[in-house]
Amino acid sequence: MKEYLSLAETAELVGKSKETLRRWDKEGILNAVREPVSNYRVYRKSDVQLLLGKMFDEVADDEVSNYVKPEHKYAVLELFAGAGGLGIGLEKAGLKCVALNEIDKWACDTLRKNRPHWNVMEGDIKDFDFSQYHNKVDVVTGGFPCQAFSYAGKKLGLNDARGTLFYEFARVVQEVNPAICIGENVRGLLSHEKGKTLQGMISILDEIGYKVVPVQVLKAIHYRVPQKRERLILVGVRKDIDIDFYYPKPHKKIYNLEDALKKGSLFDCDVPISIGAKYPAYKKKVLDMIPPKGYWRDLPLQTQMEYMGGSFHLGGGKTGMARRIGWDEPSLTLTCSPAQKQTERCHPDETRPFTVREYARIQTFPDDWEFSGSLAQQYKQIGNAVPVNLGQEVGYAIVKFLNEYYNSKTIKSKKTYHLAE
Ligand SMILES: C[S@@+](CC[C@H](N)C(=O)[O-])C[C@H]1O[C@@H](n2cnc3c(N)ncnc32)[C@H](O)[C@@H]1O
Repeated sequence: MKEYLSLAETAELVGKSKETLRRWDKEGILNAVREPVSNYRVYRKSDVQLLLGKMFDEVADDEVSNYVKPEHKYAVLELFAGAGGLGIGLEKAGLKCVALNEIDKWACDTLRKNRPHWNVMEGDIKDFDFSQYHNKVDVVTGGFPCQAFSYAGKKLGLNDARGTLFYEFARVVQEVNPAICIGENVRGLLSHEKGKTLQGMISILDEIGYKVVPVQVLKAIHYRVPQKRERLILVGVRKDIDIDFYYPKPHKKIYNLEDALKKGSLFDCDVPISIGAKYPAYKKKVLDMIPPKGYWRDLPLQTQMEYMGGSFHLGGGKTGMARRIGWDEPSLTLTCSPAQKQTERCHPDETRPFTVREYARIQTFPDDWEFSGSLAQQYKQIGNAVPVNLGQEVGYAIVKFLNEYYNSKTIKSKKTYHLAE
């Protein structure tokens, strides 16, 4: 068993930069020791685990609240809606989804099964005209899949982005003319094509009349989600509106796996029993050797080499590989397929992936939200989603913005949804 962790591994595990760890060493928050032969800075595994426990300990008094009551009725058009993670979150914040577009048949089935009254527009976004919603919805939201643009070296315009799904997002925003539009994406968008893709998106939104609020990456663990997932949020405010958008404030309390799966402050009962995937025999044998909060480095050396193959010699901590989650920490980011190599997130007590309902809990879906399709389809829909509680907190930020907008002097009446309820 490995007693020490490298600087890179420790940084990955505690979710801080190496610089922060060096500072923590000086400040005595987490002391490093020197590896006798190489003189590298390493950390006692027991110290790291103790600190992790403290970091995720209950903060009794979470005084932070982003709640704000909608003062009018607000309508949302949700694009790339998936199985509805963001949709339910926005609904919980008091916004009304007047229409949702999604290409995947099973995700659409999920949306219709759970919300028969939602207008689910099934099909490729490219084939829909949304002009019926012109000036009739307040917010357009969408987690457009990230694709590269082809550049001619100049400032990117809407037409240069044709063929991409971001183009479709911007095209719909232009067609609908909402007060605010919100895109969500993975953190990787920041560095995609050395930042040019994101810059291109900002310049396109500017061209179609939206000023972009400085982009932020929100950590789901700060928004009542027991998972270390991150989402990049891209907010555009229509240029004629002189109101600031504020991101939701981070909560102090961090929820862990126990909060996700057991009765407590996040859910009022234990997680329901449900179907789930299994590990193939070899993977199970390997993962049986990993303790809670452990990963591939906890295996005997020979097994490490066999299991990791080529990745064994690559750099980086790779702390997400062959990982068993502990009860007292948040889950690592769930992926679209739970037994996938390199991203195993094993249950703490049993050597198996999380079941469908456990997956849904970690993404803060309510227990009565049913998913359609095969086991693989269900995992995919859940893994793709914006965590519901994160969506709700972003929803409050939108409500706050719209309250101010409609209460501002220039807008006198805003009482009903513009569309048939
Ligand atoms: C990241 S997921 C969105 C998750 C969703 N916001 C949630 O919270 O559950 C992106 C979605 O875009 C959908 N999608 C991809 N291409 C599309 C297209 N051309 N038209 C409509 N939807 C599309 C995918 O099927 C997928 O469900």
